Amino acid sequence: MCGIFAYLNYQVPRTRKEIFETLVKGLQRLEYRGYDSAGIAVDAPGKGTGKDRDANNNICLIKKKGKVKALDEELYKGSSKDLEEELETHFGIAHTRWATHGEPSPINSHPHRSDKNNEFVVVHNGIITNYKELKKYLNSKGYEFESETDTEVIPKLIKYVYDNREREDMSFTTLVERVIQQLEGAFALVFKSSRYPGQAVATRRGSPLLIGVRSQFALPSENIPIQYNSGRISDGVQERNNWNKTEAGGVEQQEVVDAKAVEYYFASDASAIIEHTNRVIYLEDDDIAAVAKGKLSLHRVSRRTGEDPSRVIQTLQMEMQQIMKGNFDAFMQKEIFEQPESVVNTMRGRICPETGKVILGGLKDHMKEIKRCRRLIMIGCGTSFHAAVATRQILEELTELPVMVELASDFLDRYTPVFRDDVCFFISQSGETADTLMALRYCKERGALTVGITNTVGSSISRDTDCGVHINAGPEIGVASTKAYTSQFVALTMFGLMTSEDRISMQKRREEIIAGLRNLSDLIKKVLELDGKIKSIAQELYQQKSLLVMGRGFNYATCLEGALKIKEITYMHSEGILAGELKHGPLALIDKHMPVIMLIMRDACYTKCQNALQQVTARQGRPIIICSEQDADTMKYAYQTIELPHTVDCLQGILSVIPLQLLSFHLAVLRGYDVDCPRNLAKSVTVE
Ligand code: F6R
Repeated sequence: MCGIFAYLNYQVPRTRKEIFETLVKGLQRLEYRGYDSAGIAVDAPGKGTGKDRDANNNICLIKKKGKVKALDEELYKGSSKDLEEELETHFGIAHTRWATHGEPSPINSHPHRSDKNNEFVVVHNGIITNYKELKKYLNSKGYEFESETDTEVIPKLIKYVYDNREREDMSFTTLVERVIQQLEGAFALVFKSSRYPGQAVATRRGSPLLIGVRSQFALPSENIPIQYNSGRISDGVQERNNWNKTEAGGVEQQEVVDAKAVEYYFASDASAIIEHTNRVIYLEDDDIAAVAKGKLSLHRVSRRTGEDPSRVIQTLQMEMQQIMKGNFDAFMQKEIFEQPESVVNTMRGRICPETGKVILGGLKDHMKEIKRCRRLIMIGCGTSFHAAVATRQILEELTELPVMVELASDFLDRYTPVFRDDVCFFISQSGETADTLMALRYCKERGALTVGITNTVGSSISRDTDCGVHINAGPEIGVASTKAYTSQFVALTMFGLMTSEDRISMQKRREEIIAGLRNLSDLIKKVLELDGKIKSIAQELYQQKSLLVMGRGFNYATCLEGALKIKEITYMHSEGILAGELKHGPLALIDKHMPVIMLIMRDACYTKCQNALQQVTARQGRPIIICSEQDADTMKYAYQTIELPHTVDCLQGILSVIPLQLLSFHLAVLRGYDVDCPRNLAKSVTVE
């Protein structure tokens, strides 16, 4: 969780105000990752003005509880003269937090510092699992802690390594290298230090981090070579709590990016960088990136077998307008209305118009292995898990393989048996969810083929899996996932189609599904036209405490997903109920006061859903029914109806979820909540 942003300008004069604006804008783009407090660290005023220059290179920290907006207001409380101060070279770091250790408060928010003089400051995304052990050790050495966070051990540790360094001229990179060797858990870190003015060091393990580069001069290389430290540390034999005894490591930095007038942006994700540059480097686990005198260099302790000894400067394809809200009130609303396009983008170039052949480029080399496997295991969390539930039935039908659907956390808790001939799918919008990532590592260790289904190119899951599919839904900023769900749904269905291509018995079924996919975008547009009606239903419901959503078969996942959307952004209690289970318990909840939404579509479960409807109306229930167009037999029992266009049964769930996405949005607005930033949640859950 948490968002990191940092900005370094080298020989590009920027006023303090411009630097603040860049840092704040970066944080705002990342706010979906956490928003309970925010902070920045910059050089103290007076450094760039000649005679007033601060000889101690002091760093000042500004931290504020609440959203980035609160921090933004705080930044301008200083003198206007300071704001106009021009800094030719400067490095500022910033953070927006989602609390894990310690309540949201200025003291617990980042950047964290080494000491009262702010000698070393750091921003962190992730979790340090051995922080208690480190804290105890550092306490014993006289280092005092001020916050309740796990992160604070990091600046204290670097200060300890610095204070005990064996060489006067030890580089900033080497210090960081020493520090991360002692850390367990997940982290993306950016360090700033008054001991190394104008320098930046960043590293990651398990949490995402990328660097954007902007220079008016051509970059000398597309491939940045990694510099390996040949020191003793590379043997991995360094003793815990014995940092000061290690040999001096680190190598001289070799120039890799032209150091004339260059700007660097460090961020947890590309959406914070794209407005400045589309040239980025994704860091791999344990990479250390350093900027000194405007030069960027990359370091690792040692080279692993088969490892690529360089990192490529990639060009991002993302457009700025993709992450702007446009005419919508909230990102979530915009993303719901983008679905006619986003599902097309998921299919683009993957269904041959002449033959109807489905080709998922990222899987084609592995199809033989997939078709021969023992079973498919689909693993995800939250909405991504629901996409697995939604497509399980059609995958079982098309692949004729057993399909298990698993919540990543539970899958790990159970130490689920996994074998070499299993194919494990990791479904994740962000590609960074810690539970899913841990499950991926677990399956890899057991030799299964791993397949990523993600929306984030360059994410940990897309890099760590053997093969996969990018769903190409475009950036999803609203915390509540919407368009990623429907695109995951489409991508998984396409996978089913690809596996069943040579089954004669399946041809008719395949053709109807492909026809359904072709028509999907138009049908989604029709569903979106129901927005006004759904808003009026929301007006009737918004003061209720609870809302049940019931259905079965292909539409059961819609109930789970609809209920999740409602609870996460409206804070109403909501439950997705399998209609077949109604009589086994939930029926006790039904009376004339309990709002119930029922999904009754014209498919194989139609009659059974009608039975459930009778059971509800017999108890004076007043159901709001989402049903197929002109289904008079069903509508006559409804208190309210939402009629949906008909599509092939296995795709109906894509259409039936949209009214619930819209309903949750309107309910949240009417209840006065911030739709894009629901309390206690964050977009990317990078802690277990
Ligand atoms: C709900 C929601 C979450 C995520 C879950 C997994 O709207 O967004 O339930 O689906 O945290 O996230 P990803 O898909 O990024 O792995």
